[in-house]
Amino acid sequence: MLSKLTFATLALAGAASAAVSNGGLKILAPGGDGLWWIAAQQNNVVWTCGESTFPQFTILINNSDTSLLTAITPLIAVEQNYNCNQGIASNLITQPVGTGYTIVLADILNSTNIYAVSDPFEIKALSAGYPPTSNTPVDQASATVSKGTSSNVVGQTGSPTGAGSGSPPAKTGGAPSLRSSSITAGALVGVAAAVAALL
Ligand SMILES: *[C@@H]1O[C@H](CO)[C@@H](O)[C@H](O)[C@H]1NC(C)=O
Ligand SMILES: *[C@@H]1O[C@H](CO)[C@@H](O)[C@H](O)[C@H]1NC(C)=O
Repeated sequence: MLSKLTFATLALAGAASAAVSNGGLKILAPGGDGLWWIAAQQNNVVWTCGESTFPQFTILINNSDTSLLTAITPLIAVEQNYNCNQGIASNLITQPVGTGYTIVLADILNSTNIYAVSDPFEIKALSAGYPPTSNTPVDQASATVSKGTSSNVVGQTGSPTGAGSGSPPAKTGGAPSLRSSSITAGALVGVAAAVAALL
């Protein structure tokens, strides 16, 4: 039992190593076996907005299999980091069902300057249904991200109130360690599922 758990943990760690992360920006969803997209439907991208040092970025989709996607394709030209997640409209999800897709976050002025790349994920047929919400790791630090207000209160849990202040998006410090513990919790759910599958 213990050796199976260790094996599953190592396998998970290996799978996660495909992701790229710079400036605290990491893609939480989609990516990996538990966080797929559904073809021709609205799908979400979720990132570590509370840790990111980039105020905005371009969201692109890529695949090394050119029979599925001939070239890296922009989905959202300018995304604000403080949004923390973005629904991608169904009319932009024209990519066929298949594996090996990645979401890429890049410099809005120079998309060869890559900020983050997700783990590979699958686009599945509608019949697969969306993955459970609980598969997405919770970014605790995102609660501290403010939409352009200058009042960043550590520990504030309410929704941002940035109406018309005009100051740039900002974030508070201190919370990033919470995110890594929530990632671990999410990973452990994955390990538990993997172990259950082995038994
Ligand atoms: C996109 O996919 C192509 C084809 O595999 C690859 O050469 C390129 O490095 C990828 N770009 C990024 C930003 O991951
Ligand atoms: C774009 O970004 C890449 C990677 O950081 C860099 O090598 C290249 O010089 C940049 N191009 C321009 C025009 O700034």
